[in-house]
Amino acid sequence: MRGARRAWDFLFVLQLLLRVQTGSSQPSVSPEELSPPSIHPAKSELIVSAGDEIRLFCTDPGSVKWTFETLGQLSENTHAEWIVEKAEAMNTGNYTCTNEGGLSSSIYVFVRDPEKLFLVDPPLYGKEDNDALVRCPLTDPEVTNYSLTGCEGKPLPKDLTFVADPKAGITIRNVKREYHRLCLHCSANQGGKSVLSKKFTLKVRAAIRAVPVVAVSKASYLLREGEEFAVMCLIKDVSSSVDSMWIRENSQVSESLALLLLV
Ligand SMILES: *[C@@H]1O[C@H](CO)[C@@H](O)[C@H](O)[C@H]1NC(C)=O
Ligand SMILES: *[C@@H]1O[C@H](CO)[C@@H](O)[C@H](O)[C@H]1NC(C)=O
Repeated sequence: MRGARRAWDFLFVLQLLLRVQTGSSQPSVSPEELSPPSIHPAKSELIVSAGDEIRLFCTDPGSVKWTFETLGQLSENTHAEWIVEKAEAMNTGNYTCTNEGGLSSSIYVFVRDPEKLFLVDPPLYGKEDNDALVRCPLTDPEVTNYSLTGCEGKPLPKDLTFVADPKAGITIRNVKREYHRLCLHCSANQGGKSVLSKKFTLKVRAAIRAVPVVAVSKASYLLREGEEFAVMCLIKDVSSSVDSMWIRENSQVSESLALLLLV
C-alpha cells in the first residue's frame, strides 16, 4: 500500500513539474482539475442493511483511488467503483475518493446489522490528563442514548465525562489516574432495547509531573581501614512508584537503603 501511495505522489510531482515547465504558453489549469471528484450516491452518509450491495462510483476527468477507513485501518483500490456485493457490519466506515490532484470527497457508509450494533477495537489506553477514545463506532446511527456504561451494573466514576461520535466512538475527557483498570461498555438503545458492546478495560499511563530529586547525605568520605561508614540517599518525588538502588563500580550493591519522601 505504501508503495502504491508513493507512486501516486510521484505521479503528482511529475505532473506539477510538467506544468511548471510548459508554464506560460499553456492556459492556466482547467477548472475540472481543481474540483474534487464526485461520488455517486451524492450524499455524505449512506445507510444500508447487512446483505445489501454497496456500490459507490467516483467521477473525475483523471484517474482516482478509493480509500476505506474503519477503526483506524485503511484499505485502498484504484478502480473508479467500490463494490461490496454482500455488505457486512465490518464494511461500515469512511470511503474517500482522491483524484490525481490530491483533492478528495468522502461518503460514510453505515451497514446495519441487528447482530452487531458496535464495531469494537478493545485495547483501550489513556494518558493521565488527556482524552481517550473508546473505539466502538455504531453500525446504525438511528439509535438513542449512545453512551458508556460500567461493567456488571457498576456505576462509572462521578467525574467521568465523555463525548459520543457514532462514526468514531466515545471519547473520555481528561482521563484521571484513578480510572486505571476501569471496566466499561459502550451502550445504546435500539428499538427500545438497551444494547451493550463488548467490554473495554482502560489502562492509564500516569503523567510524569516532575523528575525525582536525588541527593546523598555527604558527597565524599575519608575513612581509615576498618572504619564503618553510612550514607543516606534521599529521593523526593510526587509519585510513590520510584525504584531506587545503589550502584558501585557498575555493580549493584544488594544491601541498599533509600528513604523515599513523598511531596
Ligand atoms: C473521511 O475521510 C476524509 C479524508 O481523510 C476526512 O476528511 C473526513 O473527515 C473523514 N470523515 C469521517 C466521518 O471520518
Ligand atoms: C442512557 O444510558 C445510561 C447508561 O446506560 C443510563 O443510565 C440512562 O438511564 C439512559 N437514559 C435513557 C434515557 O435511556
